[in-house]
Amino acid sequence: MTTSAPRAARPFLKWAGGKTQLLDALVARSPRPAGATYFEPFLGGGALFFALIADPERRPRRAVLNDLNRELITVFEAVRDDPERLAQRLEPLQRRYLAADDAGRAELYYATREQQPRDPLAVAVRLIFLNKTCYNGLYRVNRSGRFNVPHGRYRNPRILDCEALTAASLALRDAELRCEDFEQACAGACAGDFVYCDPPFLPVVAGFTSYTQADFGRDDQLRLKWCIDDLTRRGVRVMLSDSPHDFVQGMYEGSRYRLERLPARRMINSRGDRRGAVDELVVTNYDPASYAVALAPASSAKSSAK
Ligand SMILES: C[S@@+](CC[C@H](N)C(=O)[O-])C[C@H]1O[C@@H](n2cnc3c(N)ncnc32)[C@H](O)[C@@H]1O
Repeated sequence: MTTSAPRAARPFLKWAGGKTQLLDALVARSPRPAGATYFEPFLGGGALFFALIADPERRPRRAVLNDLNRELITVFEAVRDDPERLAQRLEPLQRRYLAADDAGRAELYYATREQQPRDPLAVAVRLIFLNKTCYNGLYRVNRSGRFNVPHGRYRNPRILDCEALTAASLALRDAELRCEDFEQACAGACAGDFVYCDPPFLPVVAGFTSYTQADFGRDDQLRLKWCIDDLTRRGVRVMLSDSPHDFVQGMYEGSRYRLERLPARRMINSRGDRRGAVDELVVTNYDPASYAVALAPASSAKSSAK
C-alpha cells in the first residue's frame, strides 16, 4: 500500500455498526503489519481500514475492500477515482440545502431520495447527500431495494468535507473494491493475509440489520463461521467483531478461537431507546496479545486458546 497515505484519512460516511467506539481496541489486536493483503469483506464505512492505513506499523501493502451494498461501493469508487468531480457536484447541493428553510430542506431531501440515477457519479453524490441529511445517518432499504430513511434534523450538516474526501481518496488509491458476498470476497486470501470481518449484528433483542435487501440471519452467521474455519485452515489470520448473542458466541467457543467481550456503544439505531452500551464479541484465530503493546484485560467471554 502507499507510504504517503495521510494520517487524517477516516470514514467519510456515517454507517450503522461503524467501529469508532471500538477502534483502538481493534487496531491493537490487528497484526503488525496487517497482512500481506488486508481483506475487509463487510466494509461499511471502513473504520478499521482507514485506521490501519494511518498506522505506520500496521499499514497493509494491499487491500481488498468489499461490501454487498452496490451503492456504497459506488461511493467508494467515486471517492477513490474522482474526488474532485464529486466535490464539484456536492458543493451546489450543500449550498442549496443549507440556504433553505426547514420545509425547503425536507423538499430537497425527499426529491433527491426519489431519484434513481444510473450514472455512478450521480449515485455517489445522491448517497453522500442522503447519508449526511437523513435521520441518524441510517442506511435502510425497503423490500424493493429503495432507500426509505426519513429526513433528519441536523442543523448544519457537513455534506461536502473536501479534506475528508481527499484524504480518503489517497488512502484508497491502491485498494481493490468489490461488491459481492463475503465468501467470494475472501476466496483469494492466502497464508499471511489478514481478514477483518464485521458482519451485520444479529440483534440480541431486536434491532437494525437491513443494509441491503437481504437480512443477515443465523444461516449467514453459520456460513461466516465455516468461511472463517476455512481461512484458518489456510493460514489466514482472521479477526471477527460480532454480536455477543449466545448463538454467535456458541459457534466459536470451545474450539481454536480466542473470544473477548469488549464494551462498545451503538451510535446508530433506528430507535433511540436501543442506542447505548452494548458489548461486542471479538474473535481471533491468533493470539491478539502478541500484537499489542498493552491490551486491557479481556472481560467475561470465555477465552479458548489454541
Ligand atoms: C456492521 S456493517 C460494517 C461496518 C464497518 N465495519 C464500519 O466501520 O462502518 C456490515 C456491512 O456488511 C454488509 N453486508 C451485509 N451482508 C453482506 C454479505 N453477505 N456479504 C458482504 N457484505 C455484506 C452491509 O452492507 C454492511 O455495510
